[in-house]
Formats: sequence, C-alpha cells, structure tokens
Amino acid sequence: MQVSATTPGRAAGESVATLERGLAVVRALTAAPSTRMRRSDLVRSTGLARATVDRVTRTLAHLGYLRIEDQDAVLAPRLSELGNAYLAADPLTDAADAPVLRLADELDESVSVCVPDGDGARFVIQCPRRRAMAVTFHVGDLLPAERCAPGALFAADWDEGTWRRHRERVAADPAADRGDVAVRAARARRSGWAVDDQLVEPGLVAVAVPVHRADGRVRCAVSVVSHTSRHTADSLAEHALPRLRACADTITEALAGRVPEPSQTTPPRLRADALRAAKEELGADFLQSLARGLAVLTCLRAPGGRTLSEVAEATGLARATARRSLLALAQLGYVATVGERRFTLTPRVLELGHAPLSRLTFERIATPHLADLVRRVHDSASVSVLDGDDIRYVARVATTRIIGVDLGVGTRLPAHPTSMGRVLLAGLAPEDLADRLDRAAPEPLTRRTRTSPEDLAAAVEEARRSGYALVDQELEDGLCSIAVPVRDRSGRVVAAVNVAAHAAQRGADSLREEVLPDLREAAGRIEVDLAAASERNPGALPR
Ligand code: PHB
Repeated sequence: MQVSATTPGRAAGESVATLERGLAVVRALTAAPSTRMRRSDLVRSTGLARATVDRVTRTLAHLGYLRIEDQDAVLAPRLSELGNAYLAADPLTDAADAPVLRLADELDESVSVCVPDGDGARFVIQCPRRRAMAVTFHVGDLLPAERCAPGALFAADWDEGTWRRHRERVAADPAADRGDVAVRAARARRSGWAVDDQLVEPGLVAVAVPVHRADGRVRCAVSVVSHTSRHTADSLAEHALPRLRACADTITEALAGRVPEPSQTTPPRLRADALRAAKEELGADFLQSLARGLAVLTCLRAPGGRTLSEVAEATGLARATARRSLLALAQLGYVATVGERRFTLTPRVLELGHAPLSRLTFERIATPHLADLVRRVHDSASVSVLDGDDIRYVARVATTRIIGVDLGVGTRLPAHPTSMGRVLLAGLAPEDLADRLDRAAPEPLTRRTRTSPEDLAAAVEEARRSGYALVDQELEDGLCSIAVPVRDRSGRVVAAVNVAAHAAQRGADSLREEVLPDLREAAGRIEVDLAAASERNPGALPR
C-alpha cells in the first residue's frame, strides 16, 4: 500500500487541509521566540483566517498541547510527546545513545547524530561538551545539507525529486550558496567521511561518518564537532576519524542485532472516546481532524510501526477514519510506510516543537500551572525540592492578595516543619527517612512545631498515606500550608507543590476542603508536562 501515491477523496482532502492548518500553527510557534506568539501575529505568519487560528489554538489547548494566555498562544511542554513518539519508535536512538556518549568522553568533543530529512540533516542525538564557545544545535533542529558535514553524506542517496527541491531552495535563499553539495557528496563518497569547515557557523568545524543500512543507503551520520580555537578541520579529522569510525561500526552492529519488537500496546493518550467528549465540550470549535491526526501520530510510538488495524484498535477510531488520518499524515510527510502494510513516523515529526521544548527548565514547566492555581485559590503557590535537610524553592507564584507569604525562588527552609518538606520526606525510601529522623534535632519555631522524632515520623507517615501534608503554624505563627507530591515518569517524588495562606484568612479546614482538589489537579498537570519534557531530557527535572 503506497499511501503517498494515493489520491485522497474529498473527506481525506479536508482532513489533510485541517491537519495542515493545525500543524502550520505549531510550526509557527516552534520558530517564535519562547514558542509564544500573539494570535494576531499567528494570523499574519500562517496566512490563516483569524477564526481558523482561534479554532486551532482552542483545539490544541484542549488537548494540552498549547496554552492560551490573554492574546498569546504558547506551546505546552506536553507537545514534546509527538517528537518523543518518533524517537522512541526509532531503534537508532537506543542503539546509538551509549556509543555516542562514550565517544564524546573519549575525544572530549561534542558528538551528534543526524538522520536525512528531505534535503537536510535532522539532529536526533546531541551530546554537547560545555564550552564557552559552544554552538549547540538541539535534537529536532534541521541543518541544510549544503552547510553541514552530514548533508554531504546524505546527498549520495538523493533521488531526482530531492535534488530538484534542493536546487529550488538554494536558488531562493541568498544565504544558502556556500559550497556545492554535489561536489562535497562525491568527495565524501570516495573518502567515506565528510567535513564542515565553518560552513554552518564561523569557528565551527565538524567531521562526520555514515552508518549504512543493510541495503547500502545511509541510515544516519555521526559527527564530531569542535571549534577553530581547538582544531583545524584537518587536525579534527586526524584526531577523531579512527574512533568515529569505530563508533559508527558499533552502532551498525547494535542496529543489526535489534529486531524491532511488534508494536507494543502503549495506550495513546488521546482515544476516540476522549475526542468525542472534547467535541461535545468545544462544539464547532473542536477540529476533529486535527485531534484525530495527533492521536494517530502519537499511537505510532511503536518500534517497527503499526498496521492500519492496529492503529484503529489503539486509537478506538473506525478503520476508515484511521486510514484518512494516516493518509493525511503521509501526505504531509510525517508518516511513511514500511513494507506492504506498516506505518511509521518520519523524523520530520521533530519539527513540531521538539527543539525549543527540549530546552525547558523545570521552573518554566511548573510556573504556568502555579499561576493557574493561584488564579483559582487566591493564595501563593510554590514548588520546592529536598536539598540536604532543607527544602529549596524552585518555582513560585505569589498571590495577588495584599498580605501574601513572601518567599522567592532559591529560599531554603527546614524540611521538618513545612508541608512541602513532609511530602518530600514521605517520598524517601524508609531507611533513608529513618536515618534523617534519627539525625535531626529539629528546633521548635512556634509553640506548635513538632520536634520529637516519633511525632515527625507520624506526620510523614500520614502524608505518605493520604498523599498530602498540612502544616498549621509550625513554621511561623499565622502561616498554614498544604502540599502534595510531584512525581516523575517512574513515580518517584521529585518535588512538592504547595499553597500557603494566612491562618486568619484560610485555616486548615479551608485548605483541605477548598484548596486540596485544585492543588492535586495542578500537580497532575505539572506531572503530565514534566513526563513529556523529561523523557529524553533529564535537564527538565527539578534540581
Ligand atoms: C553539531 O552537532 O552541532 C554539528 C554537526 C555537524 C555539522 C555542524 C554541527 O556539520
């Protein structure tokens, strides 16, 4: 079944158009500073009607892939689910991660892996060395073939269509006329490696070698990247090539030994039933073809891809509907077919927000959710982590009330008399907790501070059992707070989120009854965004 060659019917044509409009909005936001744009600017940059931009942004916001803040639309960290689906399904990332890390350590230089994408090279692994003059591209970024080392290796396999599109692009871009890909590709084919001598960036030099598929085509390129302050192109080649080649061989072997497992049954997050509920809630504003397309895309997170029947089954969509979505995605270049019947994701999926979202810090992930919480409960909300015997604030949104609790990011407080501290202690392994409680000699800070190890152990146990901790004026007279844990993908407690209030305005009962449900919801939303953002980027976890 050659999906790309199929002529779509009218319904399929409409699916393609709706999906394309939705993804055009995502691409525009991907390119915008901080992945944020006024909706009126989105209208200008995409050429879509205002009403269409509104429907697209509402649909994406409903799916948790975007936030609408006043006049702005901002990509949400959860959108990295799309690129993660591609990276998880491609056995290359698993096969190459460890050898690439080892090579970067051995050479003490940055190492990256790119795969061919049209007439460009798209980063799928990036292992940078921290240097003052480091130019780092991110996983998901695309380099034009004529300006990078991998491009010269990939051009060996280009078909007529790719060469034509390449010539058209270069002709239209005055900045693109550096080096002739055909000449560099011929040289690379003879020598088995390619070089980028300050093509993409002044001062940057890179050397790349190919990893081949069984059929001889180039699967990916592994590059070693340095700076002219450390190496010339020639000295980098001499320094790096032998070990770079050995690394490519290791990856080739690891790939050959890897039998793609039949598609796992990872339940996609967006099933047909959820989409129907959304349709009821948003009415005509909900763009079903966009939501279905994204549901189908995320369900292709399966090594070896899925068949049409498996896609229908995993998403809960009717076969004909699932097929229309697959055709639309294939037509837009996000899905390819393998063999007769299987569908897989292409690296182009990474153009949907992945690179900018892979740079998010935990503070940026958590803060919008704290702001939503504060808007609902009108008291300050914070997130903190355990740091020795203290908690340390890593994100905070203050209340708009005149009397607020005034603590900034970076503030440290003792863990034992704080609600966040108790939730964090409750997340520790029992031995670790027992050690700490034995060691601790907690100071009484108010008349109510619990200081005996038994009382503290009971309070922590209560937090573990109930999933929240409430502290009533143990840290400071007049200050009440309630906290719940924030867990990572594996279920480990990595942070705590709380709401703090003045006891005169909101006492323990009010916190438990009126704040706890919203607090739990906020923690759940942070967890969803954090799971997506940290899957391939541990830098997104709170530190
Ligand atoms: C990089 O990994 O940053 C890189 C790789 C190849 C190039 C340029 C940069 O040609």
